[in-house]
Amino acid sequence: MKCIKFLLAIVAGLVFAVAAQARTLEEIKADGKIIVATEGAFPPFNYYQGDKLTGFEVELAEAIAKKMGLKIEWKALAFDSLLVGLRQDRWDLVMASFGITDERAKAVTFTNPQYCSGGVIVAKEPGISTIKSLVGKVIAVQTGTTYMENVRKIPGVKDVKNFPQNSDAQSALLTGRVDAWVTDRFTIKAALEANPNSGMKQGDYLFVERIAGAVKKGNIPLANAVNKAMVDLMADGTYKSISEKYFKEDVRCH
Ligand code: ARG
Repeated sequence: MKCIKFLLAIVAGLVFAVAAQARTLEEIKADGKIIVATEGAFPPFNYYQGDKLTGFEVELAEAIAKKMGLKIEWKALAFDSLLVGLRQDRWDLVMASFGITDERAKAVTFTNPQYCSGGVIVAKEPGISTIKSLVGKVIAVQTGTTYMENVRKIPGVKDVKNFPQNSDAQSALLTGRVDAWVTDRFTIKAALEANPNSGMKQGDYLFVERIAGAVKKGNIPLANAVNKAMVDLMADGTYKSISEKYFKEDVRCH
């Protein structure tokens, strides 16, 4: 009896696994809307202005969807749950400033790069600005990010403290709980513009990265459709105008 129950559970599991397929491009088109997940806490890329989700990649996603003839149903969730949810078919596309890495590319399919950026060192102490100066220091990063991954590779760092949100890592620096914070170069630019007297200073680049959207591993038709929309937006001036609105420059990869 136990054995039969066990077998039934396996069969049910298999049926579920087969049923839980990523939505195909046709299914998304037939539905008329694409489910896009982001974090909503990473200005100026994806964040809330009051109760409105906005930012560079939110506007970019809206423009991509429009080119594809779709509406967006947004989901805003914790950063480190976004790629996992893609594997579980909880949404079709993730736009949350994910850098393309070999490790992530094993689990998801990336679109073509949507912008180029990099992780930079931020500190209040003027002596902390280079990779060498991080030796013996405590560094704050957001959990699950490429900042975390790259800081861990630096020999001699005393401790890497992880925070669920990037703004928590920033607060840790501002309140003196850590010596440095590693974050996106545009994120710190926006933070310094919003708060010029914070005492934070941008130091050297730790690494550069190409940022892309992600779809379920192997959903190539969907990735291609997003890429095609991006090519059109880059050619017709839409990309440039959204980029200049947020950064006063064109942030596409060259
Ligand atoms: N670009 C970095 C990475 O790929 C940070 C992304 C953080 N995104 C966010 N929505 N908080 O890991």
